[in-house]
Amino acid sequence: MRSILVLNAKGGSGKTTVATNLAGYYAAQGAKVALADCDPQGSSIDWLKQRPTSVAPIIAIDAANGPLRVARSVDVLIMDAPSRTHGDALPPLLKRAQTAIVPVVPSPVDIRAAIRFFQELREVRHLVENDVKIATVASRVRDGARTSDDLEDFLMDQKLPSGRRFPFITWLRMSTNYLKAAEKGVSIFEMAPAATAADREYWAPLLKWLASPRSLPEG
Ligand SMILES: Nc1ncnc2c1ncn2[C@@H]1O[C@H](COP(=O)(O)OP(=O)(O)O)[C@@H](O)[C@H]1O
Ligand SMILES: [Mg+2]
Repeated sequence: MRSILVLNAKGGSGKTTVATNLAGYYAAQGAKVALADCDPQGSSIDWLKQRPTSVAPIIAIDAANGPLRVARSVDVLIMDAPSRTHGDALPPLLKRAQTAIVPVVPSPVDIRAAIRFFQELREVRHLVENDVKIATVASRVRDGARTSDDLEDFLMDQKLPSGRRFPFITWLRMSTNYLKAAEKGVSIFEMAPAATAADREYWAPLLKWLASPRSLPEG
């Protein structure tokens, strides 16, 4: 089973948007997908409730109110982490994942919070036995925004104690398509291709990375 965690302690960083769109993407590809909502706010569960029968089904796991138990037949597990997940709460989530994606909004406030969050990830890393691969994506990026360069510089500089980086994978542009998708319970990959082509383009590097061994634990 492929397991992907989306996390960042900062609320509004794009976790649920990334988690639901990834879940929809893999479901549309024909995979048996489970979406585990670990956030008591339940935004991913809400999204699943809106999901129309015309698109591929996704299994809902309300992991904020029960155990994160996954059927053996599931191909892809996407986990949407709660905001304000710090310190000791991080390892149990990271342990469940082969890959973790940290979306960061390119605003000064979000970048400062992300600096602290990456420090926390480094501090708990030794408590996580599995070799979870952590990468970052920039989220809600305005086309042509200047702060994006600052964010890229910052994200490129994030290194693990081993000297390895948290690779920076892509930008996800600010787009009303995500609001429409959230409302309808679909992903942008299940909306009209012509209307979402510009958004999908930014996902391509992330989807490619997730399909490559570079995003998987070694051995
Ligand atoms: N790329 C984007 N373009 C436009 N709106 C976005 C984008 N990503 C997230 N949003 C919106 O920003 C808000 C916060 O995003 P969300 O994914 O819920 O963050 P989190 O789960 O980290 O709290 C939501 O209203 C969401 O629809
Ligand atoms: Mg959320």
